[in-house]
Amino acid sequence: MSLKIKNICCIGAGYVGGPTMAVIARNCPKIQINIVDINEKKIKEWGNKDLNKLPVYEPGLDEYIKECRGNNLHFSSDVEKYISTADMIFLSVNTPTKTQGIGAGQASNLKWIEASARQISKYATGHTIVVEKSTLPVKTALTIKEILNGSNIDNDKTFQILSNPEFLSEGSAINDLEKPDRVLIGGENKEAIDSLINIYANWVPRERILTTDLWSSELSKLIANAFLAQRISSINSISALCEKTGADIKQVSLALGTDSRIGPKFLNAGPGFGGSCFKKDISNLIYICDHYGLYEVSKYWQKVIDINFWQSERISNLVVNKLFGNLSNKKISILGFAFKANTNDTRESPAIKICRNLLEEGANLKIYDPKVSKSQIDKDLGEFLPSNKNINSEYGNWIYCDLAEKTFEEADATLILTEWEEFKFLNWYDLALKMRRPSWVFDTRSIINLDLAKKAGLKIWSIGNGTLIK
Ligand code: NAD
Ligand code: UGA
Repeated sequence: MSLKIKNICCIGAGYVGGPTMAVIARNCPKIQINIVDINEKKIKEWGNKDLNKLPVYEPGLDEYIKECRGNNLHFSSDVEKYISTADMIFLSVNTPTKTQGIGAGQASNLKWIEASARQISKYATGHTIVVEKSTLPVKTALTIKEILNGSNIDNDKTFQILSNPEFLSEGSAINDLEKPDRVLIGGENKEAIDSLINIYANWVPRERILTTDLWSSELSKLIANAFLAQRISSINSISALCEKTGADIKQVSLALGTDSRIGPKFLNAGPGFGGSCFKKDISNLIYICDHYGLYEVSKYWQKVIDINFWQSERISNLVVNKLFGNLSNKKISILGFAFKANTNDTRESPAIKICRNLLEEGANLKIYDPKVSKSQIDKDLGEFLPSNKNINSEYGNWIYCDLAEKTFEEADATLILTEWEEFKFLNWYDLALKMRRPSWVFDTRSIINLDLAKKAGLKIWSIGNGTLIK
């Protein structure tokens, strides 16, 4: 037995809510889907006729929006109305790390989850299945259940809670949602679980839909992110050893990845992992372990974060060292600001910390990213806004460029911080002519053609590449 779901409401129109619901909408044309958000500006942007101006950039997403918006996919800030008409409600709100109070810097801030649960409790009608899509600390379903039932004074509504964590990666979200490795559904009630299975079964092979208990599902999501982040910190730690010993991290990654037990993915060394989730989710894991007195376990995971911090720090330090220990008034080209390619998201991007470090050393940066706007960089570099420059005259300055080539005028160095495809094909010969000598390329993603850059007379540092040791 399962319930026939006709109306879905998704609370949260962000990087998860938008693409996830667009994919459900296209695969389930008979279900009406309303995505609601308290951020009216964002809702307006989702309605933009110009599909290049959606609030989330994801390759392929525009096609889904074009096909479904106005048919069975709708965006609204009327949260109450669409809660009341839904048979199933997805919670896709943000769960960032707490910045103050108990657990500051580690625990997840669940205020948006709690607010949503209270609204559901108040405005839902009849029977409603509430699905946790956000990444949550293990046992959050217990809190949600208490809130949902607690204010249901007349006992005229019923709820079931499911955990259905999202595993999409930004930049490949549409593909990840269309062809997921697995869909995970945790719950206690077979009817509710089957209702959600029936939705996914419209396009996901049944054997890829896993069902577990609630706590295993909630915890698996945190641990999946912790394992992925751990792989990156492992390879990044070895990139530093390669640079000292003359080994090449790309060759080491290949040798490791061909072992079928290790596998080839997630072995690219870089400036450190960014994105809104890895650091937040490991921090939350650490907090939970400490809560249960598992201090050795939490210390183990803390090291993954420590190495990540160290990796971006060592990159900005080595840029300063290679440029004679002085960046004052030197011009540096910055290529890429997003935390990875194919997204406009800059949350926890290593570019933010590296740029801040260089600005503190007095560098003048010219920043280009194909998808990140100037206003976003303004927010991320905060106190380094040009208008605040007189606060500390030793600080450098930055400007935004709308083409990669424009960042190279008179530059002493260029830093490649995001692995955008277009940076792989830069014309090093022409660019070198624009730069001041000696001119450096710091390739933190190991994507450029080293031979061409060398022939153009550039000095090169490429992550984990010990063969460049002189
Ligand atoms: P986001 O910040 O892009 O979007 C969350 C949205 O929820 C915001 O637009 C916010 O205004 C809205 N919101 C908050 N409280 C609300 C309320 N009470 N009513 C209506 N709207 C409300 O966040 P995101 O990146 O989409 O992440 C959402 C969750 O999914 C997080 O728990 C995250 O850990 C998890 N997750 C994210 C990704 C990813 O790639 N970004 C992948 C998997 C899982
Ligand atoms: C990650 C996970 O991959 C998703 O499964 C998960 O759903 C999501 O977090 C989440 O919960 O938010 P995402 O952060 O979008 O997805 O991107 P990733 O591809 O995982 O990259 C994260 C960071 O690691 C990026 O800064 C990326 O450049 C870096 N990275 C990734 C490397 O440095 N090397 C690699 O080999 C892979």
